[in-house]
Formats: sequence, C-alpha cells, structure tokens
Amino acid sequence: MGLPLLLRVLPLIALRSSASGDTTAAIGTFADVNTECKTCPHSLCPNILAYEQGESANVTCWTRGTRIIDTTLWLRSTSDCYVTEYDLNDNITDYTSALPYCGPDSEDEVLTLEDATLKYKTECRICPSISCDTVTFLKEETDVELTCWTPDGQVIIDDPYWMRTTNNCYVAQKNLYSKPDITNLDPCGPIPYLEIEKHFNENGTSDIDKRDAAPEPEVFAPSYLINATVGEDYALCRSCAKETCRVKRRYMFDQEVWLQCLVNTNGTWWSETTDFCYVKNSDFWQSPEGDYYRNPLCEYFEEPGTGPGDGDD
Ligand SMILES: *[C@@H]1O[C@H](CO)[C@@H](O)[C@H](O)[C@H]1NC(C)=O
Ligand SMILES: *[C@@H]1O[C@H](CO)[C@@H](O)[C@H](O)[C@H]1NC(C)=O
Ligand SMILES: *[C@@H]1O[C@H](CO)[C@@H](O)[C@H](O)[C@H]1NC(C)=O
Ligand SMILES: *[C@@H]1O[C@H](CO)[C@@H](O)[C@H](O)[C@H]1NC(C)=O
Ligand SMILES: *[C@@H]1O[C@H](CO)[C@@H](O)[C@H](O)[C@H]1NC(C)=O
Repeated sequence: MGLPLLLRVLPLIALRSSASGDTTAAIGTFADVNTECKTCPHSLCPNILAYEQGESANVTCWTRGTRIIDTTLWLRSTSDCYVTEYDLNDNITDYTSALPYCGPDSEDEVLTLEDATLKYKTECRICPSISCDTVTFLKEETDVELTCWTPDGQVIIDDPYWMRTTNNCYVAQKNLYSKPDITNLDPCGPIPYLEIEKHFNENGTSDIDKRDAAPEPEVFAPSYLINATVGEDYALCRSCAKETCRVKRRYMFDQEVWLQCLVNTNGTWWSETTDFCYVKNSDFWQSPEGDYYRNPLCEYFEEPGTGPGDGDD
C-alpha cells in the first residue's frame, strides 16, 4: 500500500487498565486505508471516528459484523468503536486468538431510519462531497431510506446537509422533497474521504449493507444542483432539448435558475432545470457545460433509450 516504512513495525502489545482494575491486552495496529470506526460492527452504523490511512489504533476485542469482501471480523478500538479487519494492517493474521470476543451484544446493528423521496436527479456518493465517487445515479421521485445526517457536507446551493441512505451512500438534503426530521436520525459522525476503489464491497453478504454497483457509464461524473443566471432578455424552457420542443416556461433576464444536468443536442448544450424543462446554455451568463466541476449528463440517470429528447415533442 506504499505505507511509510516507519509504520511497518511489528504490532505492539500494550497493556491497558480496564475499569474493573484488571488488565486487558490491546493490540496496536493501523488503518491500511482511510476508514471509519463505528458504533456497531456494520457498514451502516454511524461513525465515532474517521481513521486516515496509516493512523494507529489499539484494538481490544473482536466481533462479527458486515462481511467486507472476505471477512466478517470487526475489532473494537480503545475509542469504543468498531472497525472492519479488512481496512486494518493485514500483517496481524489472527486477532481472534490474540484478543477476546467482545460478546454477543456487540454484534447488534442499531440504526435509525426515515423514508424520503428525491425531488431531483441525484447522485448518491460514497462521501458527502462532489469530489467523492458516485455509487449510484438516482432519478427524481426515487424513494430512499435515510439512516443518518451530516451538517459538514459540501454546500449545495445554500445547504451543507447530506444524508446517508441504506444503500450506504450520501444524498444532498437539497435534492429531497422536504428536509427530514433529523431529531429522529443519528448524526453520521466524522466521515473520511473514501474511494470506491478501496471501499467497494463485492460479495458482501447482507444486501442492506452493500453498495449497489454504479450503472453505465463507468466514468463517474457527479451531479449537483447549480445556479445560473439568465443573460438574455428571456430564456425559454422547453419540454425537450431541441428548438422544436414545446415551450413550458419562460425565465426573465437576470433570474436565477437551478440546473440539474446537461444535454448535448447536435453540438448545442442545454441544461435541465429544476422545473424539469430544458434551456439552451447560451441563454445563461455562465457556461454550465464548462464553468462547473464535473456537471453530469442527464442521460446518466436514464435507462438506455429513454433519455431526454427521445420524445415529448
Ligand atoms: C509483518 O510481520 C513480519 C514478522 O511477523 C515482519 O517481518 C514484517 O516486516 C511485517 N510486515 C509488515 C508490512 O508489517
Ligand atoms: C496505543 O497504546 C499505546 C501504548 O499504551 C499508546 O502509547 C498509544 O498512544 C495508543 N494509541 C492510540 C491511538 O490510542
Ligand atoms: C467475488 O466473487 C466472485 C465469484 O466467486 C469472484 O470471482 C471475485 O473475485 C470475488 N471478488 C472479490 C473482491 O473477492
Ligand atoms: C449561486 O448561489 C450561491 C449561494 O447562494 C451564490 O453565492 C452564488 O453567487 C450564486 N451563483 C450564481 C451564478 O448565481
Ligand atoms: C443534427 O444535425 C443533422 C445534420 O445537420 C440533422 O440532420 C439532424 O436532424 C440534427 N438533429 C437534431 C436533433 O437537431
């Protein structure tokens, strides 16, 4: 993993005094990749800590939880949270003989859940920022189940809140019909920068903890709502991304319009707005196809052959 040599020392066995006065062996280890230390040993549990690659941790007992690739083993750290063995230094081969079992209660999965529906096309990301990989592309009207919230995501228009879904990825609160009642949901805790390359969970056992594979195209092009301002006397918003399509709306000069995604029709760029109609990008002061980081194509959200502009004119 290209870790500094200094980190490649033998795991040290430390002695830690427990509350009852006897001593518990703790094994010193470190995170192989950025990872999360959770309230329970399951991928969907909220985080207590975020470990950076190479960060050290002392673990005191083992338990069983979500299968990550090839292991169901999770370790409890001295910070009273659980981290998957898969993300720890793999030089320690036998945690189960070196450490005690944490006990049957430690295997419980305790989650808060709340239903929500997406108002707009939304990418569900592995962490709550537009620089994070997209796990799945979700269309407007998709029902999702939320498990936790974070106030520290990337600001979308004016809202930094993101929610983790039971597909183990994050959607921006701005993309939901309404703000969920977060008093009924756990905070997600600190979230490290994660990458699908290092945190896919192929062959995981439990569906609920598994991230769905991203559909085509394989190029991850994140989406988010962006605002643009009409730079012409008015801008027509059409039922599809062609001059011949029916006019659904008319936006005024200097009006701020929120955009979901891009369509290229014969070399001309259009944007789908949050009114679900299409404006030519040349009608805006900004250039939505060029000025914004990783603004996605609308077709990424469609089943092949049902993309915008395939009818409705
Ligand atoms: C793994 O452990 C062995 C001895 O148990 C040691 O020689 C080796 O350097 C260790 N490698 C890493 C990457 O820690
Ligand atoms: C792990 O335990 C060692 C020895 O007690 C201590 O020096 C170190 O700070 C601990 N590391 C963490 C991350 O708790
Ligand atoms: C998942 O299972 C398939 C089929 O058994 C296997 O080919 C693949 O290598 C496995 N993936 C991982 C990451 O272990
Ligand atoms: C978009 O909204 C943000 C936050 O309200 C604002 O700072 C920014 O100037 C707006 N950009 C445009 C192009 O309207
Ligand atoms: C694209 O351009 C070609 C050639 O100029 C034309 O035949 C075709 O009708 C155009 N398609 C659309 C959707 O405008």
